[in-house]
Amino acid sequence: MKLLVTGGAGFIGANFVRLTLDTRPDVTVTVLDLLTYAGNTASVPDDPRVTLVKGDIADPELVDSLVREHDAVVHFAAESHNDNSLDDPWPFVHTNLVGTFQLLEAARRHQTRFHHVSTDEVYGDLDLDDPAKFTPETPYNPSSPYSSTKAGSDLMVRAWVRSFGLQATISNCSNNYGPLQHVEKFIPRQITNLLDGVRPKLYGAGLNVRDWIHVDDHNRAVWTILERGRIGETYLIGADGEVDNRTVIETILELMGHEPTDYEHVADRPGHDLRYAIDATKLREELGWEPVYGDFRAGLAATIAWYRANESWWRPQKLETELRYQRLGR
Ligand code: NAD
Ligand code: TYD
Repeated sequence: MKLLVTGGAGFIGANFVRLTLDTRPDVTVTVLDLLTYAGNTASVPDDPRVTLVKGDIADPELVDSLVREHDAVVHFAAESHNDNSLDDPWPFVHTNLVGTFQLLEAARRHQTRFHHVSTDEVYGDLDLDDPAKFTPETPYNPSSPYSSTKAGSDLMVRAWVRSFGLQATISNCSNNYGPLQHVEKFIPRQITNLLDGVRPKLYGAGLNVRDWIHVDDHNRAVWTILERGRIGETYLIGADGEVDNRTVIETILELMGHEPTDYEHVADRPGHDLRYAIDATKLREELGWEPVYGDFRAGLAATIAWYRANESWWRPQKLETELRYQRLGR
């Protein structure tokens, strides 16, 4: 099988490529990645079964020529950070909407199996005391330029299935953690701050809840859906990992040998979503997927160990990221 993986130099895509090499000996992978600030060639395995093509998913000729040569597309490429989308929404429109459009058109022309990777943030947020979780029936209600452009891309995939018979599936996953995540994101930012002797930064009061899942559990679910998912269906991916941000920071501090209270409050994110929570019953019952990483604390400890051991991977991104946060007042 020849697989085209967009965004395979980013956090989740690169972990997906690694998992694929480890578990699917009959698969070869082409990574299509623009290598934006979020893409890292050091994340792409140096392996004869992997080819890296540097290019834009919004480039119709390049996308057509690559999709034509592959059996399936797994589409991870995106502008993915909420804070950046509040600062400058345009790259989010370009990549998440225009880029996804070009991929869908190429997959339509060549009748290529397509899996679209999306986020639970398309559903908006939940109250802290709401017993409900997101299900595939929850109405879309995105809050930020990031989540609204992801929502738009999901709706295009659904429309291409219905109107053109595209062989596509969609997954919406909760917050991922694990190795190879850019230091702009919450967990690696705090770990690398502590490694640099800087106090972790909590937005607002830190009561916001995210539903954490290990990146390998996410990617195993993507493979499950690619192989056994029903065409046209949306599957929600989550591992019942709801934790508030303050608890995450306190746990990181404790695991790294600091006082749990040794963090600072910084300005809150405008429009900050309060709580995300996934009901993954459909994925579990219909496709038999189960997460492997049940213990968030243990997963966090392993992630801390990875960042400690791989400073040469994250160091080049750190200063520029913190200068950007300084400009945003966070
Ligand atoms: P990331 O920002 O780490 O990686 C994105 C990758 O896409 C980078 O390698 C970047 O260079 C590439 N890219 C950006 N624009 C491109 C373009 N125009 N053409 C080609 N490549 C381009 O993101 P991530 O965290 O790995 O997220 C991957 C996907 O998973 C995204 O679609 C995101 O919406 C989704 N998702 C992420 C999370 C999460 O917690 N990180 C949770 C659920 C869903
Ligand atoms: P983030 O990793 O940006 O993911 P998302 O916005 O997709 O949920 O942020 C996770 C949570 O952590 C979110 O509620 C914002 C918060 N946060 C902080 O408190 N401090 C930080 O330095 C960052 C980057 C995020």
